[in-house]
Amino acid sequence: MSSPSSVLAILCLLCFLNGQGMIAKVAANSRVHIVYLGERQHDNPKLLTDSHHDLLATIVGSKELASELMVYSYRHGFSGFAAKLTESQAQKLSELPSVVRVIPNSLHKLQTTRSWDFLGLPSQSPSNILHKSSMGDGVIIGVIDSGIWPESKSFNHNGLGPVPSHWKGICESGDRSNATIHCNRKIIGARRFIDGLRKEHGKPLNLSAEFLSSRDAHGHGTHTASTAAGSFVTNVSYKGLGHGTIKGGAPNARLAIYKVCWNVLEDGNALVLRCSSADVLKAFDEALHDGVDVLSLSIGSSIPLEQEVHDDIAIGSFHAVARGITVVCAAGNHGPLAETVSNTAPWIITVAASTMDRSFPTSITLGNNKTFLGQAMFTGPEIGFASLIYPELDDPTADGGCQSLSLDKTMVAGKVVLYFTRVSGSTAAIGTAITNALAAVIEAGGVGLIVAKNPSDFSVPFNEDFPCIQVDYEIGTQILFYIRSTRFPLVKLRPKTFIGKPLSVKVAYFSSRGPNSITPAILKPDIAAPGVNILAATSLRDPLWEGGYRMESGTSMSTPHVAGIVALLKAMHPNWSPAVIKSALVTTAWRNGPSGLPIFAEGSSQKLANPFDFGGGIVNPSEAADPGLVYDIGKAGYIQYLCAMGYNNSDITRVVKQNTTCPIKKPSILDMNLPSITIPNLNNPITIERSVTNVGAPESIYRATIETPFGTIVSVNPSALVFNSTVRKLDFTITISAIHRMNTGYYFGSLCWADGVHLVRIPLSVRTVFAPYDENHENDDWSAGLMPF
Ligand SMILES: *[C@@H]1O[C@H](CO)[C@@H](O)[C@H](O)[C@H]1NC(C)=O
Ligand SMILES: *[C@@H]1O[C@H](CO)[C@@H](O)[C@H](O)[C@H]1NC(C)=O
Ligand SMILES: *[C@@H]1O[C@H](CO)[C@@H](O)[C@H](O)[C@H]1NC(C)=O
Ligand SMILES: *[C@@H]1O[C@H](CO)[C@@H](O)[C@H](O)[C@H]1NC(C)=O
Ligand SMILES: *[C@@H]1O[C@H](CO)[C@@H](O)[C@H](O)[C@H]1NC(C)=O
Ligand SMILES: *[C@@H]1O[C@H](CO)[C@@H](O)[C@H](O)[C@H]1NC(C)=O
Ligand SMILES: *[C@@H]1O[C@H](CO)[C@@H](O)[C@H](O)[C@H]1NC(C)=O
Repeated sequence: MSSPSSVLAILCLLCFLNGQGMIAKVAANSRVHIVYLGERQHDNPKLLTDSHHDLLATIVGSKELASELMVYSYRHGFSGFAAKLTESQAQKLSELPSVVRVIPNSLHKLQTTRSWDFLGLPSQSPSNILHKSSMGDGVIIGVIDSGIWPESKSFNHNGLGPVPSHWKGICESGDRSNATIHCNRKIIGARRFIDGLRKEHGKPLNLSAEFLSSRDAHGHGTHTASTAAGSFVTNVSYKGLGHGTIKGGAPNARLAIYKVCWNVLEDGNALVLRCSSADVLKAFDEALHDGVDVLSLSIGSSIPLEQEVHDDIAIGSFHAVARGITVVCAAGNHGPLAETVSNTAPWIITVAASTMDRSFPTSITLGNNKTFLGQAMFTGPEIGFASLIYPELDDPTADGGCQSLSLDKTMVAGKVVLYFTRVSGSTAAIGTAITNALAAVIEAGGVGLIVAKNPSDFSVPFNEDFPCIQVDYEIGTQILFYIRSTRFPLVKLRPKTFIGKPLSVKVAYFSSRGPNSITPAILKPDIAAPGVNILAATSLRDPLWEGGYRMESGTSMSTPHVAGIVALLKAMHPNWSPAVIKSALVTTAWRNGPSGLPIFAEGSSQKLANPFDFGGGIVNPSEAADPGLVYDIGKAGYIQYLCAMGYNNSDITRVVKQNTTCPIKKPSILDMNLPSITIPNLNNPITIERSVTNVGAPESIYRATIETPFGTIVSVNPSALVFNSTVRKLDFTITISAIHRMNTGYYFGSLCWADGVHLVRIPLSVRTVFAPYDENHENDDWSAGLMPF
């Protein structure tokens, strides 16, 4: 109740940097709270709102005061309200039997021409799922973000049919936003929600950098919406890079825009993007009524995470999933450290970010004809053989970059400089060092800079006009040895866009990692998608726009890729539940890159990616359309999870609107029918249940193969599953035991069902934990997450 408000973020990197130090302002004695009442007890929204006012009036004394304090009534997707309350009013409300939880309002942070071809969805190939799904026509993707720039070419509605008949939402007019002009057959809904933020703030918000409407002043929402469902636009590039036709994942899907994130001008003229949880929850409430099929949220909270019934996104998405709406959320940009993943509720699809097999390499050819590839966003002409120098530092431990070298003009002019970053620590510090070095080299008349840096560092600022080429220490060292080996070292620099083979795909440095810090037995993230250097539409208020498009990186960018793919799957399989869609994505994901190379994870040391980096792997849309078997979860499965998490009967009964009595012996979270198995504390042998539903050919036989995690024995019973036209769903068990009685870290493997056509693979992640743990498992609490180790 009195927990400090968590800080929420939009999950793109620049926004993330802007969001540093963002803390909720708490009014002295009263602040916005969300009073969550669970599933709607009846269907009449008007009566529900009346009941919310009555409930509030009983606590605050009068109907008039209740009306004044009320911020929102949630009455479409679930029941509850947001209101300005003192601590003691909140406490009293929380004690009422009809109230599930009272949650203090919190602030969220918001955390590609090529990306779709990379995922196997080029628009030319006629047989691919883009065509089988009519490019997502008829499916509505709701985007809860910073709004939309409706004039962008990416939102043209050329060739689109009428607005889908199940759409019940609206387009609001407002500041520089006219529903008649700005909504079309692509953008079919556009609304804004700001009351939660306003009432939270106490003093008036300075919105002079905003539009009081669904129009996007920031660019983030336009970028994510166009990535999910942008229409075809030809001849798009960013400063000549990544040139081509741009489109979203589901070019014929429709967009419903819910603006909840606002560019607020703070004291000292700092622009901060703020999204309040009361507003996010109102967006869910309306979207569930409006008829969206998929929701995309590039928004998240930071550690420590809140339990499901304390987290607005978890609550909103629970009710969405209960109505068959898939919710796709960003994993966060707090990688590569472990246990940083957010949006961890098991009904959400949580998306990590990967690089693509496209990059902007510059080839570096030395005078001895050795050629290396470095990364640069340099678009200028080739630099012919120029002199190459390495100015030795007086103080090799100096952190200030090239500024601490007094670069001698006569020494540097006309030459290419090699520079080693020696700073460790934050990406920002490395970025500053490189920026300083670059400025010093340009100042001294150099013609190029080769920066050697730790390969784990996330790619830091690129400069389009000057060749600043990044290499890792290994390549940097080879260049240095060359310089020292010859009297007249020379180098040639040649920029090009490289697509395909030579580059392996990696999980991005910044992408938040598992294990899940709330429920370690639930694997998070679920899946990865491209999130580095994604080209998409932006707001014309965005200072970095270039012809209406910009490059951006973050799990914010990977999330709408998956939302677009979900729209394609929905168009092909309208009856698939959110759990089936998630299973199809996870079990078919790429564990190797499209070129067959294993997928690495950027991090403190170069390592192969494991499920805590990318869940099942990198999303593979064509295979996901035909997964063979799926791990489905219905209402009973979610109730089992809520029981396993220790929520009491009365809470669960309200949340699911079904009389619930949890079994005396708590169910195991491990038995939730997820497309993954994660055992945080294997001790005695354990047997886990799963069931699979055949969505492929009715007559099929699947056999199990197991990649056993190191130090364990795994068996599956039965080891073959025989389906026919009457037997569509089969149960099986997996028994896992530890070989050695010792504590270990996590080891990984997989369980794969194969019928000769499909490979249905789920990741296994196992850690063995022995003393001082309870040998009999009687007090094991899978939800606690606090394992002595
Ligand atoms: C919106 O645009 C329509 C069509 O151009 C125009 O008739 C209407 O007056 C505009 N509404 C507002 C509020 O500007
Ligand atoms: C908002 O901030 C700008 C810049 O500091 C200032 O010019 C303007 O008057 C402020 N507006 C309000 C409503 O405070
Ligand atoms: C593509 O865009 C470039 C730069 O904006 C322009 O020069 C060129 O004419 C365009 N090509 C076509 C076919 O529109
Ligand atoms: C580099 O390659 C060129 C052309 O292939 C050749 O003429 C030259 O001798 C080579 N230089 C060295 C140092 O191998
Ligand atoms: C259920 O749990 C909530 C929160 O812990 C608590 O407030 C409520 O009193 C409990 N209800 C029952 C019937 O135990
Ligand atoms: C739940 O139980 C209550 C009392 O125990 C009963 O009145 C109500 O009809 C039940 N509801 C359902 C949906 O079974
Ligand atoms: C399907 O398999 C079950 C169990 O083996 C069997 O009882 C049933 O008759 C089969 N149905 C058909 C249509 O073959």
